[in-house]
Amino acid sequence: MDALKWADFIIEVQECTKCKLSETRKNVVFGMGNPNASIMLIGEGPGQREDELGIPFVGKSGQLLDNILAACGFSREEHIFIGNIVKCRPPNNRDPLPEEKDQCIEYLHRQIEMINPQILVLLGRVALQSLIDPKASITKCRGNWIEWQDRWVMPTYHPSALLRNPKLKYDTRDDFRKIVEKYKELVDPEHEAVNI
Ligand code: URA
Ligand code: SF4
Repeated sequence: MDALKWADFIIEVQECTKCKLSETRKNVVFGMGNPNASIMLIGEGPGQREDELGIPFVGKSGQLLDNILAACGFSREEHIFIGNIVKCRPPNNRDPLPEEKDQCIEYLHRQIEMINPQILVLLGRVALQSLIDPKASITKCRGNWIEWQDRWVMPTYHPSALLRNPKLKYDTRDDFRKIVEKYKELVDPEHEAVNI
């Protein structure tokens, strides 16, 4: 990781006006975590709290995500980088439009290339469809590793889906157990999950 190149890249994205979401955003949410992480998590796009603070997953679903990560023994500072398909908030939390995703996804591809994570975790349908296959179903794909561009990709439910339907947490726990196992296999055999 070239730290100067990374810093320039952050500034470039923070000044971006390529799509209309730039007109209504308060802050660009570039992403956060360790730029040398082995695991990258990808969500959909910032919500209201994220837009206000410029940090991903800080609202209700972010708190749930942090609990899941803590159970896996993962922290944002050390093991993880968290990004989104679009970096600016879609008004009223609507789905990002195809042209917005098309404009923004180049940044995500560059983040993946620079961070170079071995494991990608796709949080929900929008991340799965935007990155891998526009027709893929999250209920069918979740829990199964996809080998993509020499990386291990695990689709799972978005934390906001767990808030709406708590029964999904059992499947989600299975998915994160697989992620911990893969991390131990590829990165650190000594890694200890706390409670998953
Ligand atoms: N939901 C997302 O998909 N991303 C965030 O950053 C916050 C909520
Ligand atoms: Fe630029 Fe992405 Fe924000 Fe659109 S959503 S203005 S492409 S950073």
